Amino acid sequence: MSRFIRNAWYMAAWSEELTDQLLSRRVFDRQIVLFRRKDGAAQALADRCPHRFAPLSRGTRDGDAIVCAYHGLRFDGSGRCVRNPYADAIPHQAQVDSWAVVERHDILWLWGGTTGTADPALIPDFSPVAESSQVHAVRGYTLLRAPYEYGIDNLMDLSHIEFVHRGSFAGNGVIFAGTHRVREEGAAIHSDWWMPDVAAPSHTRGIYPPDMRCDHWLDMRWDAPASMALQVGSTPKGRPREEGIAVDQAHILTPATADTTHYFWASARRYELDSKELDGMLRTLFQQAFDEEDKPIIQAAYENLEGTDFWDAKPISLGVDAGGLRVRRRLKALLAREQDSR
Ligand code: FES
Ligand SMILES: [Fe+2]
Repeated sequence: MSRFIRNAWYMAAWSEELTDQLLSRRVFDRQIVLFRRKDGAAQALADRCPHRFAPLSRGTRDGDAIVCAYHGLRFDGSGRCVRNPYADAIPHQAQVDSWAVVERHDILWLWGGTTGTADPALIPDFSPVAESSQVHAVRGYTLLRAPYEYGIDNLMDLSHIEFVHRGSFAGNGVIFAGTHRVREEGAAIHSDWWMPDVAAPSHTRGIYPPDMRCDHWLDMRWDAPASMALQVGSTPKGRPREEGIAVDQAHILTPATADTTHYFWASARRYELDSKELDGMLRTLFQQAFDEEDKPIIQAAYENLEGTDFWDAKPISLGVDAGGLRVRRRLKALLAREQDSR
């Protein structure tokens, strides 16, 4: 019984990671090889040849096919064996699993269910972080040694900024001055903070004077299984949001195994698009925040459970954690529904 929901879009990679080479990555506990056809379309196959189980990612590309490095069976992008170098006949079991892949907003999305049920209309909207003539994004990746739900807890409850991110985003008490609201909209769950009349937050540095009073917001949207879009925004006190400064971020978690998680992040801006210096500064800041601040505390908390299930450990609730709890319950319900329908 899988602990992952099948019928959802999982981020497999940033678009730029998939070149003309074969890319092997573990996603929902399957080893998957990704590659591009000649027309650029991405394909995803199980990274295991059905003959003697060599990783197909060790093979070579030949047009739109992969040739296994061990005995030369050739597979097309649908996983069908299209050539057996030893005979004309192709054994009918010579078929590898394949997954539907869609490339959108500079992200390669993998459908966890059977290919025929993939609906691209369900891919969550990450257009605010996609590169364009008006938008530039700094992107990164880190591997989290904890199940993906622990990453969701962290992101859907940003109260931790005040404690975990003192060295980077420097909350300075803004969360305590704010109100928090969790709401559902369609299939999405939102966890939003509204902090009126606070000193200019760090994301406005260099644009607003530090002592300027601002209305500040942190709006987080979750889509299954763990794709989160954050907007960090500030506007001069009392002014409409459209007049302010907003930074859009992606925080997308993809389970690699039961207890390791790919954490893809991006932060987009609409000013100084070509500044390499700003890219470097932001990258350093985000690496400090996500790699050196969030990751160690999430991993340590998970390890500290010593294998006990999250719910069995009877976590206490503080109210501010309502977003993470709502998502955990939703995931449980989605999983139960899929298991019932099998
Ligand atoms: S293991 Fe792939 S052809 Fe033999
Ligand atoms: Fe954090």
